[in-house]
Amino acid sequence: MSWLPEVASNLASKVDGVLWFITIISLIFFIIISTFLIYFAIKYRRRGDDEETPYITGNLTLELIWTVIPSILLMVIFVYGFVVFKDMRTPPKEATEINVVAKQWLWQFEYYNGKKTLNELYVQQNRPVKMVMRSDDVLHSFFVPAFRVKQDLMGGRYTQLWFTPTKVGTFQLFCAEYCGTGHSKMLGKVIVLSPEAYDRWEKGEEEEEGVASLSPAERGEQIYANSGCNACHSLDGSKLVGPTFKGLIGGESELEDGEIITADENYVRESILEPQGKTVKGYPPVMPSFKGILSDNDISALIAYMKTLN
Ligand code: CUA
Repeated sequence: MSWLPEVASNLASKVDGVLWFITIISLIFFIIISTFLIYFAIKYRRRGDDEETPYITGNLTLELIWTVIPSILLMVIFVYGFVVFKDMRTPPKEATEINVVAKQWLWQFEYYNGKKTLNELYVQQNRPVKMVMRSDDVLHSFFVPAFRVKQDLMGGRYTQLWFTPTKVGTFQLFCAEYCGTGHSKMLGKVIVLSPEAYDRWEKGEEEEEGVASLSPAERGEQIYANSGCNACHSLDGSKLVGPTFKGLIGGESELEDGEIITADENYVRESILEPQGKTVKGYPPVMPSFKGILSDNDISALIAYMKTLN
């Protein structure tokens, strides 16, 4: 039905089935009970001051009916829900594993061949995937409405979920557990590719094609938007969790220890790779290291982009 999110995984229609089943049963009982309620309220209303309420001790037949029927219905709801739940918790043996790390405030995906992506999860249509997930800091929650999957991520413990994407396209990934200031910007995309396109992506062809046509600053802008920088660094001078990028390069910054430095390319590079080294005064030292996540080329592109913001 149109008021539910798109159905884009093998699990989605099963979850919807349970939801509709329970909703329709509830609706039927709501209508039956409300109708009787209104009818009885009118029919048995008090007509005069001297009218006394009759004393009724019980009705075995009625009581059996309204105990047995709901009990059976509840058991049916339980069994139906449990069968679907078990299905959702049992990944098929052939599922491809993808490692997921959540941190304030980004998603990191690592594939079986060593490939890594940030905030963009690439999967193949009709191939089951199993997410092995952990958090680097606080609780987060991996939630893709179109797939009907949601699972918390914790530090010091792996959690998992699986699904088979059935539709080619791009689907919204949310963090569904409040995890601090950048929570609402902890967004990602699940990109479902056809088997041919996935093959090309795995070999890295797609990436190079797309990148060749962009200037470093344009690529930097993409990295800013897709790698989680935007969760903490504004472009318009406003103060978020971290300092704004506007006018940062070439400008002066006061560090935590009072030292005044001019933020040049090397300072920015160092701050991306070892963010706890020289934090700017007045900002909490919470930035994760992007070592092994952003390449030297990515950092150069980001710096080129930052220079356009002065
Ligand atoms: Cu991560 Cu909310």
